[in-house]
Amino acid sequence: MRLANTRDRWGLVSIGFHWLLAIGILAMIGIGLYMVDMPNSMAKLRMYALHKSIGLTILALVVLRLGWRLYAGAPAPEPGTPRWQHAAATTTHWLLYGLMIAMPLSGWLYNSASNFPLQWFGQFNLPAIASPDPELKALARNLHRWGYYLICMLVLLHSAAAIKHHLVDRDRTLLRMLPGTGERPRTGAPE
Ligand code: HEM
Ligand code: HEM
Repeated sequence: MRLANTRDRWGLVSIGFHWLLAIGILAMIGIGLYMVDMPNSMAKLRMYALHKSIGLTILALVVLRLGWRLYAGAPAPEPGTPRWQHAAATTTHWLLYGLMIAMPLSGWLYNSASNFPLQWFGQFNLPAIASPDPELKALARNLHRWGYYLICMLVLLHSAAAIKHHLVDRDRTLLRMLPGTGERPRTGAPE
């Protein structure tokens, strides 16, 4: 399988980014929801630190992924996909990219406005991106929460669309985002 995307399918780099970030973001939603309900303890502090460190890693990976996307492009839609569906999918995908950036940034903003220090897996400190400010803190917290509601809705819609393509339309939309599958069979006269 190729590293780069072709006209017909995603390459290994895009596939790797897609599934690594999908798992990372779903895990972050799970950790976020779990940690806010923990009783105050060292374990809670450790869970917050883990949430922030993974979130910052996701931010860096999304920037790399966006760079790759702009450089490598995307395959053409599966033949027979209606124009409106392609437009809806493209809009959803760019909204997902926006939210994958907005989630960690709003978390970082919330952390800075709350005047908390920020470390990456205990290795080094990251700078504050805003001064301590109670109003900004409340705003960033709301952005983080609404971003999470929105990303959950879009991921549900996006996954349902992928499964519908696979089970109802029986096309290669899902297969071509999986490694090692979905090569278009050669048809017509032999070359
Ligand atoms: C992909 C990245 C991220 C996702 C999907 C995510 C998701 C979440 C979720 C679902 C919650 C629980 C929301 C609630 O019930 O109020 C949460 C809380 C929180 N997140 Fe994130 N987060 C991300 C990145 C970050 C980053 C990078 C930071 C900080 C640098 C951060 C800081 C926080 C904090 C401090 C809370 C607790 C808020 C509170 O106490 O109400 N998050 N996050
Ligand atoms: C947090 C979870 C997820 C996020 C953030 C996410 C995000 C994205 C984004 C941004 C794209 C567009 C790629 C591009 O144009 O560069 C994409 C494509 C795709 N995603 Fe996801 N995704 C997630 C989960 C899933 C799941 C669970 C499935 C399957 C059930 C899935 C199936 C697909 C498929 C098949 C494509 C390719 C669509 C096409 O070729 O037009 N994704 N995803």
